[in-house]
Amino acid sequence: MEYLIKKDYKLDKCIEIFENNHKNFVFDKNSITDPIYTKFVCTLDDEPIGYAVVYPHNDFLTREQFNCNYSPEDDSIYIWHIVVHSAHCGKGVGKFINNAILNEYKEHPIYCVVDKNNTPSLLLHNKQGFQIVAEFTQDFHGNMTTFALLKHD
Ligand SMILES: CC(C)(COP(=O)(O)OP(=O)(O)OC[C@H]1O[C@@H](n2cnc3c(N)ncnc32)[C@H](O)[C@@H]1OP(=O)(O)O)[C@@H](O)C(=O)NCCC(=O)NCCS
Repeated sequence: MEYLIKKDYKLDKCIEIFENNHKNFVFDKNSITDPIYTKFVCTLDDEPIGYAVVYPHNDFLTREQFNCNYSPEDDSIYIWHIVVHSAHCGKGVGKFINNAILNEYKEHPIYCVVDKNNTPSLLLHNKQGFQIVAEFTQDFHGNMTTFALLKHD
């Protein structure tokens, strides 16, 4: 049994994973089926167990209306969200998905935005070489939320 990454694969199952473990840190379920995003789906025995949604353009901060005064490079890309099914957390799936994204976009600056209260996600990204380049606070789905903008080094 091994993890495999398949792009835009079994998105109905990704929606189930979102429902299972978004933990109120991830809200944009529609991005899973929006073709502008590339979905990196981790499978085990051909079944999705986690996924990431990647936005492969540099206007992500304005597109998401983030209150962040930072100008990403023209060729930058953005990991919009990553979710692993609760039954498979803590087994390296998040790391495996992020590594596939880092490999695919190794010629590009790679960013993500993480809620500063989301310790597992911050640690996951820090361990993989992401550093905080900006912080900002704004209303997000009814809560004042402080976010970190992280860039892969
Ligand atoms: C964040 C998330 C994707 C991590 O996925 P995962 O498959 O469990 O992560 P991994 O097993 O690959 O762990 C990689 C690193 O992340 C960190 N990490 C993962 N889960 C953690 C936890 N519960 N507490 C603290 N650190 C954690 C650790 O540093 C870990 O490295 P280690 O195993 O060497 O200690 C997963 O917890 C999740 O789906 N969370 C809910 C949705 C969410 O918040 N997504 C991020 C929004 S951007």
